[in-house]
Amino acid sequence: MDLLTIIRDRKSIRAFKPDSVPRETIEEILKLSILAPSAINLQPWEFHVVMGEEKQRLSRRLIKTYREKQISCGPSTVKPLPKTFGRRGFKTLEGMKPFFEEMKVPSDQFINEGSCNFYGAPVGILICQDDSFSKANFVDIGILLGYFVLAAHAFGLGTCPIGLITAYADEMKDLLNIPENKNLVIAIALGYPDRESPINRFKSYREPLEKMVRWVE
Ligand SMILES: Cc1cc2nc3c(=O)[nH]c(=O)nc-3n(C[C@H](O)[C@H](O)[C@H](O)COP(=O)(O)O)c2cc1C
Repeated sequence: MDLLTIIRDRKSIRAFKPDSVPRETIEEILKLSILAPSAINLQPWEFHVVMGEEKQRLSRRLIKTYREKQISCGPSTVKPLPKTFGRRGFKTLEGMKPFFEEMKVPSDQFINEGSCNFYGAPVGILICQDDSFSKANFVDIGILLGYFVLAAHAFGLGTCPIGLITAYADEMKDLLNIPENKNLVIAIALGYPDRESPINRFKSYREPLEKMVRWVE
């Protein structure tokens, strides 16, 4: 697959086969991901790859914490979101609705509990950053995440970034013995896509480029 096809075809996967992913494949994808650029080449990322029984334990704990705290997937904003952006999220959820109806599951249960369960993926990868870095260094992790999802796609694997997990960072760090001074920035669900699941037929839309670009010349 050439890079442009990989970029065009990749999408978030929200139903996985239970089949385990060979450790060498995960290592290969991580090795490709850490080729991502980072400010001053500080490579400010640390990975916790959770699989097998530990992954089940992580999911169980996350779902339990979600049911207690009820913090849902949503934009983490510091001010009310301008309507332009809010509408994009709304439109994306609306686009998913027919698939939830087909699956006979309520949308928020599917998204929130699904995210906590890494959508059934056999691998959950937590990406942390030392808390000596400022939030500006989250950009580096964002780029790495982009590399990761594309590299995984090239290996025939599906991914879904799981931001919801950061709402439960304390519990997750406690469960996985992640030191206090490490920020949990993002997690990724990784596994083989379940092609039979209706939700995996969903492809999110993009606004036309004209709405987000200003040419200065
Ligand atoms: C930082 C970040 C956090 C995300 N967190 C979640 C999440 O917790 N649950 C989920 O289902 N999808 C999550 N997503 C996936 C987005 O919903 C998805 O990328 C977006 O709708 C665009 O769709 P696409 O990835 O299929 O192109 C996250 C994506 C990013 C980049």
